[in-house]
Amino acid sequence: MNLDFNEVPSPGYVVDERLLVKNLKLLKSVQDRTGCKILLAQKAFSMFALYPLIGQYLSGVASSSLYEARLGREEMDKEVHVYAPAFSDRDFDRILRVADHLVFNSFSQWDRFKDRVNHASRHIECGIRVNPEYSQVETGLYDPCAPFSRMGVTAANFQPDDLDGLSGLHFHTLCEQNSDALEHTLQAVDQKFGPYLKKMKWINFGGGHHITRSDYDVERLIRCIRFMQNKYGLDVYLEPGEAVALNTGYLVSTVLDITENGMANAILDTSATCHMPDVLEMPYRPKIISAGKSGELPYTYRLGGPTCLAGDVIGDYSFREPLHVGSRLVFCDMAIYSMVKNNTFNGIALPAITTFNAKDGLQVIREFNYDDFKNRLS
Ligand SMILES: Cc1ncc(COP(=O)(O)O)c(C=O)c1O
Repeated sequence: MNLDFNEVPSPGYVVDERLLVKNLKLLKSVQDRTGCKILLAQKAFSMFALYPLIGQYLSGVASSSLYEARLGREEMDKEVHVYAPAFSDRDFDRILRVADHLVFNSFSQWDRFKDRVNHASRHIECGIRVNPEYSQVETGLYDPCAPFSRMGVTAANFQPDDLDGLSGLHFHTLCEQNSDALEHTLQAVDQKFGPYLKKMKWINFGGGHHITRSDYDVERLIRCIRFMQNKYGLDVYLEPGEAVALNTGYLVSTVLDITENGMANAILDTSATCHMPDVLEMPYRPKIISAGKSGELPYTYRLGGPTCLAGDVIGDYSFREPLHVGSRLVFCDMAIYSMVKNNTFNGIALPAITTFNAKDGLQVIREFNYDDFKNRLS
């Protein structure tokens, strides 16, 4: 059975489970070969309809909030790890009911909440996030080690006398990177935090590992994991988000109108700002099936969304044939950081969420309507 994009509601996300399973098998092979544990970072991909499938391969979820932690507990029910730059009094007791691992961003947060952890009815492993002040991330928006960063404790601010009750260290410094960047980061972590690692049970390497990208050096990753296992006897956790669902999803859209103003504009039923905000935020240019760069193929269009934001523009693309009202365009790699970040600005409807697998074909998991727009307002 083939995935026919004409069958997908427009606009609509479709996740191809065959591609997801391919990613999951690779991640599982890293777990099997090293004994490390890999968690799904839900901030990148929270399509919980697929959590039972993901849970067959991965060890659990990484969560950034009470709601993500609850989702992971309810829908996957394996290990639930939670890290946030700060926990609130209001959420904390509810987090304690669902978390297995809690990572604090500072010693002040640890001191504020440790009694509540100790009195919790369940055993919870606690860790502290460190900032090794080393990263190869070039975009400021994604660099947790930029000057004055609020993410994690630097070596100078580390409090070795406050480690009672803490069993792990966590760092997150990568963004879409290969394992050479991880190797360099580990050298910094080892050098700055080595004496404290000796007292720990586990280390969490955070996310940003592009493990399922074709040029990723898996053997080097395995050496990195073994280094921490062998030198300090640590259990190793990784919490990639992107790598789990990388290149497994599409956003299907339809041309609503074509206008002219020095160049041809095609207005789509999907919006950069509402349905793929990272295109503007990161920013990046998504691939479209059978389309080329501006001028590469005979017919070039500027593709824009249906909102009134002038900058709701996805980019300039060229096509072999002219586009017309009703033409379908398929954006690639739209599973990650898309559904989780979308919004209803301008009252634009959210795209449908669908899956495809060889046995069941296309399945519409959810379509959204006016109530979804209205329910988040008052
Ligand atoms: C603490 C933490 N863990 C994991 C991730 C997931 O990163 P990625 O989706 O790039 O793998 C992030 C992303 O921001 C993060 O901040």
